[in-house]
Amino acid sequence: MDRRSFIAACGAGCGLASLHMPAHGDVVRNFPRSVLTAPDGRPFRTSVLEPGRNYVFHWPFPATPCFLLDIGEKVGARKNLRTASGHAYDWPGGVGPRQSVVAYSAICSHRLTHPTRDISFIAYRDKATSHSPHDRVIHCCSEHSQFDATAGARVLSGPAPQPLATIVLDYSAERDELSAIGTLGADVFDRFFSSFGFRLALEHGGKRATKPVGTTVIVQALDHYCRQQVRC
Ligand code: FES
Repeated sequence: MDRRSFIAACGAGCGLASLHMPAHGDVVRNFPRSVLTAPDGRPFRTSVLEPGRNYVFHWPFPATPCFLLDIGEKVGARKNLRTASGHAYDWPGGVGPRQSVVAYSAICSHRLTHPTRDISFIAYRDKATSHSPHDRVIHCCSEHSQFDATAGARVLSGPAPQPLATIVLDYSAERDELSAIGTLGADVFDRFFSSFGFRLALEHGGKRATKPVGTTVIVQALDHYCRQQVRC
C-alpha cells in the first residue's frame, strides 16, 4: 500500500480523515499490514484483552516493541498533538467493539527506553500511585516521562520531547481481529536502530531486525514476554 492509499484507507476506516500532513511526511508512515495473533498462532480476539493489562507486540519491525492496551472505556479522538519538530496531527481515538483499544510504540521518545525479554522500565499503569497523580499513563521509569494513553500518548510530565508514536490499528468487527497498518506521529525507529543496532542484530540475526514484520505478528501479555518489570 502506498502513502496515498494508506491515507485513503485510514480516512475511510480509521478516522484519520482530519490528519495534518506535513510537507516532509514524518507524521504518517505506512507499513505492510500485519494481523495480530496469539502466541499459539491462533487469531487473537480483541475481546480477550483485559482492561488495564499491558500487552506487547513487535511491529513494524521484529525488534521494535509496541504496547497494546484496552483502556476499559471509549477513548475519543484528540486534535493537535505535536511532534518535537512542531508538526501537528490529529489522533483518531480507540478502536475495537467499545472503541477502547489503543496501541503505541513502546520506545520512549526521550532516550529510547523499551521493554526487552529481561526487563522493562516502561509500562502502562491504569491507576495513580503514591509517586504519580496520573492514571492511565505509560510511565517510563528512566527519567519519569509520562504519556497519556487516553490521548495519543501526549506527554503529561517528564523530559520526553514528543508523544509516543501511535500504532494505527484496523479492527475487523466480523472477526474481532486487529491489524497493525501504520504509524502516526514521529517514530524514533531510526534512532533506535542506530543506538542498539549491534545488540538487535545479535538478537534477531543480522539485518532481520530491520525488515518489516510479515503478515502476522504475535501479541502477548507483557508479564509473559518480560521477566522483570520495574515499578517506580
Ligand atoms: S528514556 Fe524515558 S524518560 Fe528518559
